[in-house]
Amino acid sequence: MKTIEVCLTPDLIHQHDLSGKIVVVVDIFRATSCIVTGLANGLEAIRPVAEIAECKALGKSGYLMAGERGGQKVEGFDMGNSPFEYLEEGVKGKKVAISTTNGSQAILKSEGADAIIIGSFLNLEALTAYLLQLPLGVVVHCAGWKGTPNLEDTLFAGALIDECAEEMEPLGDSALLAHQLFVANHENLLGLALQSSHAERLKSFGIEEDLEFCLEESKYQVVPKLIDGELVA
Ligand code: MLT
Repeated sequence: MKTIEVCLTPDLIHQHDLSGKIVVVVDIFRATSCIVTGLANGLEAIRPVAEIAECKALGKSGYLMAGERGGQKVEGFDMGNSPFEYLEEGVKGKKVAISTTNGSQAILKSEGADAIIIGSFLNLEALTAYLLQLPLGVVVHCAGWKGTPNLEDTLFAGALIDECAEEMEPLGDSALLAHQLFVANHENLLGLALQSSHAERLKSFGIEEDLEFCLEESKYQVVPKLIDGELVA
């Protein structure tokens, strides 16, 4: 039976053998929710970069610059990291360079996998169908917060394990932990996720509506894939 593992934070990714596996990168609040929303809304591609300077350099060659540090928009960027900015008419057909505190870093730290794709509650159904039709084992790579695990990404990992339960078995205690967290709280996902430390941080900036949007389930049918350094639908 295929397996599904969970890496709770990028600081632990070295403990997972990614060769022959497909990595699902998750940053519910808010990077991967933005990426799914943008590509579902007609963005051409999204290039994840580590540094703000790289983003600005790409801005000079026509990319929209997007991202945040500490939850707040980077000065001089065209966009912050709200999924609502990715619903704007002006982004259709454009390319975006994104640099965020955790999400874009986790994508870059997933190298070595056979494939790197993007997960969020917004594309849960399409993501599940995509994974089940592949023969590969899965590693769910949670972006966490600055090297520590977070609640919302772990809840999502548990939800994905639950969706794939008939054809994939959880491998390792992090996967069992994530699944049990989801099973125990699946009727109150939003309520629990809104208690997370990053949710509190974003609420202190008056960014509540982003949080509820990021918890909407299976709103989009795209499964973004990293191809030659760019995420495409
Ligand atoms: C991140 O990458 O750390 C998050 O997406 C941050 C955010 O959007 O607030």
